[in-house]
Amino acid sequence: MKLILLGPPGAGKGTQAARIAERLSVPVVSTGEILRAAIKDETELGALAKGYLDAGELVPDDIIIGIMRGRLQQKDCEGGFILDGVPRTLEQAAALEQMGVDIDRVIDLEVDDAEIVSRLSGRRVCPSCKAIYHIESEPPAVADICDVCGAALEIREDDKPETILERLRVYHDQTEPLRSYYKKAGKLRSIDGTGDINDVTRLALAALEG
Ligand code: AP5
Repeated sequence: MKLILLGPPGAGKGTQAARIAERLSVPVVSTGEILRAAIKDETELGALAKGYLDAGELVPDDIIIGIMRGRLQQKDCEGGFILDGVPRTLEQAAALEQMGVDIDRVIDLEVDDAEIVSRLSGRRVCPSCKAIYHIESEPPAVADICDVCGAALEIREDDKPETILERLRVYHDQTEPLRSYYKKAGKLRSIDGTGDINDVTRLALAALEG
């Protein structure tokens, strides 16, 4: 299964990608995670990307397309994959096609802007195993400590209020057009992303069937 998770920042793409990946036994390819790892490791890519992430802007298409091409050629992607946060522009979607990648399904998580702001303001992430929490809807058992690996949880750099609003603006302007692009291709399944996390997973898995 070659799957894209589409939706605004904070819609739950990362949360659902981890759950669906476990069910399907396929890897998650998250360009956001790849970029954050590059920034942490102070690589050339990280230095290039940091300003864009901090400002809530998209990293240029040529860089993202290069990352996608390299990652999807790796052996673990041979049996399928979940794309989380990519493609994010029509150019990136076209590049995927040019690479010969035939996407089976695009799950579109629908969440309104007010809910997004509340979710991202309360998000905590594990810098080590990448588990995702929310201080109200998905809290860790011990405050600020990862349930999975025990690391101290962090707030993402781009989860500041002003950056959240800019990321939403960028989503509506540059990424939302992908909904009609994949709808025309008959691949889009829009689901309500506002329910309980388990309910959203159920809807997503059901959308893979139909
Ligand atoms: P990226 O890392 O992809 O971030 P994003 O799209 O902004 O999405 P998020 O990771 O913020 O949210 P999510 O949808 O995964 O939600 P989550 O599951 O964490 O990109 C970051 C940056 O990298 C971009 O701004 C850009 O600069 C750059 N970049 C990356 N890819 C790029 C590309 N292709 N092209 C150009 N630039 C690119 O959930 C959010 C919170 O909500 C959590 O606290 C979670 O616990 C909670 N939550 C989840 N589901 C529910 C639920 N059902 N109910 C209640 N709470 C919930």
